[in-house]
Amino acid sequence: MNKNLIIAIDGPSGAGKSTLGRMLARALNLLYIDTGSMYRAVALAVMESSLSAKDDVAVGALAGRVDIDLEGDPDSLRVTLEGRDVSDEIRSEEVTEMSSIISTIPAVRRAMVERQRELGQRGAVLNGRDIGTVVFPDAHVKFFLTALPNERAERRFHEDRTQNPNVDFEETFADMKERDRRDSTRADSPLKSADDAILVDSTGLSIDEVFETMMSVVQGKSGVRPPS
Ligand code: DC
Repeated sequence: MNKNLIIAIDGPSGAGKSTLGRMLARALNLLYIDTGSMYRAVALAVMESSLSAKDDVAVGALAGRVDIDLEGDPDSLRVTLEGRDVSDEIRSEEVTEMSSIISTIPAVRRAMVERQRELGQRGAVLNGRDIGTVVFPDAHVKFFLTALPNERAERRFHEDRTQNPNVDFEETFADMKERDRRDSTRADSPLKSADDAILVDSTGLSIDEVFETMMSVVQGKSGVRPPS
């Protein structure tokens, strides 16, 4: 275990953050924390309550009191809400949309940031939108992973199609652009690259090529080698 090593991966959706985060965590024997899944779990809790997503105070209080946990290793990460495995439910379109809305609420962000710091303190690969800027501004290695919008939407479209053969590319593209806009323009912790992040553009590259690039950055910056 590379003790206390924190690797931040931020960027928009569809850039490859979760696949690469998992690969890095596995190669370096670190915990993998998908922070988006935590906002998704809060969104599901809101949908299952009688609260309105517009009630910032009540949604913020709910985020502070629900028990959200991440269990398992990078390849079999499960997300629990009050002890219940919600890993599949939080991938629905409705939860995706709701998580984009409730993640703009400052009290929700405060609760999630606190939990993420707790979970990651002994070393982790974390992916999200504000890891290098807010959650772990002193992370040893920070990446800002991106790709051209058309390619990101293509990847999302192929993923979504495995669950729903009727999805429409134009709709996927429009929804993704709207969520990008919300993520990047919110007042509290908008999606942006930390000044000291390494920009990685995955457009046109294979996952293995991007992984090699990221691994050599990690090795160069932290001196760690994957356990043999
Ligand atoms: O990465 P994802 O699509 O699973 O994230 C779900 C939502 O949560 C997305 O709309 C952005 C938001 N999010 C955030 O605001 N901050 C993070 N660190 C991670 C995700």
